Amino acid sequence: MRSARPVTRGEVPEAFDEVADRYDLMVALNPGYHAHLRASADVLVASLASRAGSRSRRVARVVDLGCGSGASTRAVLDACAAADMAVEVIGVDGSAGMLQAARAKAWPAGVSFVQARAEELADRADLVGDGGLDAVFAAYLVRNVPDRDALLRALRAALAPGGVLVVHEYSVAGRRLPTAVWTAVCWAVVVPLGWLTSRRTRLYRYLWRSVLDFDSTARLTQRLQQAGFEDVRTRSVSGWQRGIIHTFHARRPAPRPVSTR
Ligand SMILES: C[S@@+](CC[C@H](N)C(=O)[O-])C[C@H]1O[C@@H](n2cnc3c(N)ncnc32)[C@H](O)[C@@H]1O
Repeated sequence: MRSARPVTRGEVPEAFDEVADRYDLMVALNPGYHAHLRASADVLVASLASRAGSRSRRVARVVDLGCGSGASTRAVLDACAAADMAVEVIGVDGSAGMLQAARAKAWPAGVSFVQARAEELADRADLVGDGGLDAVFAAYLVRNVPDRDALLRALRAALAPGGVLVVHEYSVAGRRLPTAVWTAVCWAVVVPLGWLTSRRTRLYRYLWRSVLDFDSTARLTQRLQQAGFEDVRTRSVSGWQRGIIHTFHARRPAPRPVSTR
């Protein structure tokens, strides 16, 4: 296998350009990839629906941050369709190659793709829109951003009051079995498959290392709370990735109704 310079966090979006045309093949070989995204998207939609209340006929504005080739965008759309929820989804990614792969697919009206860094989201009025986003879905993104606390604060700022953040992410820190399973699967399956599908392994070696270096679920929960989110809860997926991949739900607080008594 070719041994190239390791990928660093700051250059992650561009590193995805190298594997963009093989990314869908790679994830198709990963059992549960799409089902797990869908489970996290269902958490997002359920939370949006509970918030919508009387405003439920309005079109929800959702950013799929780190949308890649669109697998997570599709999961959000399918979850919204199943809940009969009208939605506008903006897929945002820093990799031109991954966005090209996403745009090459067929999408319904209301879906668009924009190249930008995740960290810029709150400063992009064209993406956030009037009054803020109803939801942000971030699948396999947060681990890759160098300053996670700044990112989470920016996401809180980009959301409307009451808006929902769902993070779908690997986390094994502090748990021996998930850490061992993760390392075994990476070196026995993921890195060799990366070589077979794209003749490259450096992004997949980075993937292994970045997951080992990432926050525990308790630490990410704490970061979300410190960034000003409430209703922070987490649950793991099913299958062999149980304890390895998790859904984190968080909400930007909405002003409490003033009591008239
Ligand atoms: C593992 S892929 C996941 C893609 C998609 N969300 C999915 O679930 O299939 C991570 C994506 O995040 C993007 N990404 C990583 N860091 C980023 C950053 N700082 N800003 C924007 N995009 C970023 C990468 O370019 C890549 O397309």
